[in-house]
Amino acid sequence: MLISRRHLLRRLGGGAVVSAAIPLIRESSFAGTRESVRATPHGGPIRLNMNENAYGPSERVTATMRASLSLVNRYPDTAGALVGEIAGLHGVKPEQVVVGCGSTEILRLAVATFLGRGEKLVVASPTFDPITDYARRAGAEVATVPLTKQYAHDLDAMLAQADASTGLVYLCNPNNPTGSLTPRQDLEIFIRKLPPTTRVLIDEAYHHYAGTSSAYASFIDRPVDDRRVVVTRTLSKIYGLAGLRLGYAVAATAPAHQLSSMRSPMNVNVLALRGGVTALYESEYVSLCVRRNADDRQEFYNQANARMLRVIDSHTNFVMLNTGGPAEAAIDHLRKHNILVAPPIPSMTKYIRVSLGKPHEMREFWRVWDLMPPHTMEM
Ligand SMILES: Cc1ncc(COP(=O)(O)O)c(C=O)c1O
Repeated sequence: MLISRRHLLRRLGGGAVVSAAIPLIRESSFAGTRESVRATPHGGPIRLNMNENAYGPSERVTATMRASLSLVNRYPDTAGALVGEIAGLHGVKPEQVVVGCGSTEILRLAVATFLGRGEKLVVASPTFDPITDYARRAGAEVATVPLTKQYAHDLDAMLAQADASTGLVYLCNPNNPTGSLTPRQDLEIFIRKLPPTTRVLIDEAYHHYAGTSSAYASFIDRPVDDRRVVVTRTLSKIYGLAGLRLGYAVAATAPAHQLSSMRSPMNVNVLALRGGVTALYESEYVSLCVRRNADDRQEFYNQANARMLRVIDSHTNFVMLNTGGPAEAAIDHLRKHNILVAPPIPSMTKYIRVSLGKPHEMREFWRVWDLMPPHTMEM
């Protein structure tokens, strides 16, 4: 069904006119566009594109980092203290922990460590894909396996791709960009069936958001006795520290040592070393962020529902929204109105991935949504 924009706006009671009084800035600093955009109070667009925690870190973390500013003329200490804290938090030995300049660095280390030229990486599609770029650049083969209709990893099809040449399997759970889960039980069976030389990297970047689902259990909190499994986490999501660049892996001692030996020296900066330690123990703040995210996500569902738009059930801080038309048109429209969402996903042509922002940012998202030209909204 096609619904006219005016009709939709009347039904929703929205459609305020864009204020002309807000100054324009050039968007040349944002990849892929030359459009002008309206400045926000912070001088940039509304960023609903990177799955950050819009609320930022806790006060205590900010205070720790502020107090650490006096140290920035010195090279950072070794990461020993931070590693010790991470080990303590998870009840593992420090030798099992590898810290990275974001968990993306750990993905790069995993490719460098476990994949040689001509070896194979098996991944889902769509998923968080920097690891596929790293693998291709290392001369490895990449086998991509579409998600199931329920947006879980298609583990049978992934298993069919796994042979003696498969150095690494990447599992993102919950998955980015779909926000969906692959059941824990299925993952365990899958891992047991993999060739003995195949390593498994489980990316738990969105772990905290999935916590209450019965289909989910972290492979750090409930480990399997398997030396091939490496689990990554990041401080970029729930902890609100994406700009700080801090992530880590937990693995058996031998693979952790292999990964660690590929790191650049001092790959974690002095503010991250200090702020990270404080952040990891901010359990009340983490719980607050989980609750707030659940509320913000529910409000997003409500708004989508009111417009008869479908979403994929999300276990993360972002939502895949079926626009009913070409994703590019919606992305373009939003960008012209100063709102960034994720780039198009080739295999999901009608969906856009929207990171949850603060309530006023999401109100602006829906206000702008309601200004969308009708041809982009077949329903
Ligand atoms: C699944 C997943 N893993 C890792 C990352 C990157 O984390 P970091 O900021 O720690 O490099 C992201 C970022 O969006 C992600 O979605």
